[in-house]
Amino acid sequence: MKKIFALALCAVMMLSVLAGCGGKNDAPADNTPAQNEPAATPDATPDAAPEAGGTIGVCIYQFTDAFMTTYRNALQEILEGKGYTVTVVDGANDQAKQNEQINTFITQGVDALIINPVMTSAADQIISTVKNANIPTVLINREPTAEQMAVYDKLVYVGCDAAQSGTFQGELILETPNGGDINGDGKISYIMVQGDPENIDAQLRTEYSVKALTDAGKEVEELNLTRGDWMRERGQEIVANDLAQFGAQVEVVFCNNDDMAIGALQSIQAAGRKVNEDIYLVGVDALDAALNEVSNGNMTGTVLNDAVGQATAAVEQMEALLGGKTFASGEQSVYVDYVKVTPDNVADFMG
Ligand code: GAL
Repeated sequence: MKKIFALALCAVMMLSVLAGCGGKNDAPADNTPAQNEPAATPDATPDAAPEAGGTIGVCIYQFTDAFMTTYRNALQEILEGKGYTVTVVDGANDQAKQNEQINTFITQGVDALIINPVMTSAADQIISTVKNANIPTVLINREPTAEQMAVYDKLVYVGCDAAQSGTFQGELILETPNGGDINGDGKISYIMVQGDPENIDAQLRTEYSVKALTDAGKEVEELNLTRGDWMRERGQEIVANDLAQFGAQVEVVFCNNDDMAIGALQSIQAAGRKVNEDIYLVGVDALDAALNEVSNGNMTGTVLNDAVGQATAAVEQMEALLGGKTFASGEQSVYVDYVKVTPDNVADFMG
């Protein structure tokens, strides 16, 4: 993963050097967008290469989120490498704050916006704001419905198909030597550590990880399902409590993301359990910490949520919009594939 990232960065940085572009503007630590350079004129011809040097506002739902940190760093590097002036702001998990940040960017006259909404339920409002301001916008990470996006043709979503990541988590369990039924009682007993349940990724990973098991004809038993809001400390607390309550009954720990899985692992180890021997543990994202644990045998597997691939696709779509492209309704979602990560292929993703 690091290697792929480093190669991608080298490529964009070389391009920037060749083009003689600068445009560095470090993201402020606070949430106040910096004053931007004058806007470049976007090329009006569809599919033509846009002029570099425009100003881009990037809104991230929460800077403390581990996966979105990798993602926003990739976005910033790619955009700056292409000569854009970039300001990245932290919504601090507060939709009202993010709405203000979007309005500030609009007032400043940014050429395009890349927005990771705080709340999926705010999609209508965000879309109508950017539409009224006529700003080309790429939504990332939290997918609105096709109907919501259809009202504005200079809008596109870049992300992944969350159901796929859930299915892959279920398959990781099915591929273990006993198919997840460690105690041989004919059913797979699991706990589910969910992300933010308002988020489609959390909903679909929760549903499809278990669906993969039942579709394969397995009997399942849900011992507990608790929201952990994507956070490591919550993963640790939840799994500590569940192991205290259900003990050896817990055969599988499904975590909607890796940060919670890393927290879960701490509690699994503290309880004297051993992953891949008396309990299975899976996450999603392929954070570096999780790749290390998969490689050490302390996580059963994870699913690559390709931050660099999504950042690259988001910038490509943004440039298409700046080049004059418009999106037909029903064609406003661009997906990057998830990839299953197991001990067999984990080395391919490590630096
Ligand atoms: C998911 C990711 C989580 C968290 C979430 C935020 O795609 O797996 O770790 O970053 O997005 O919306």
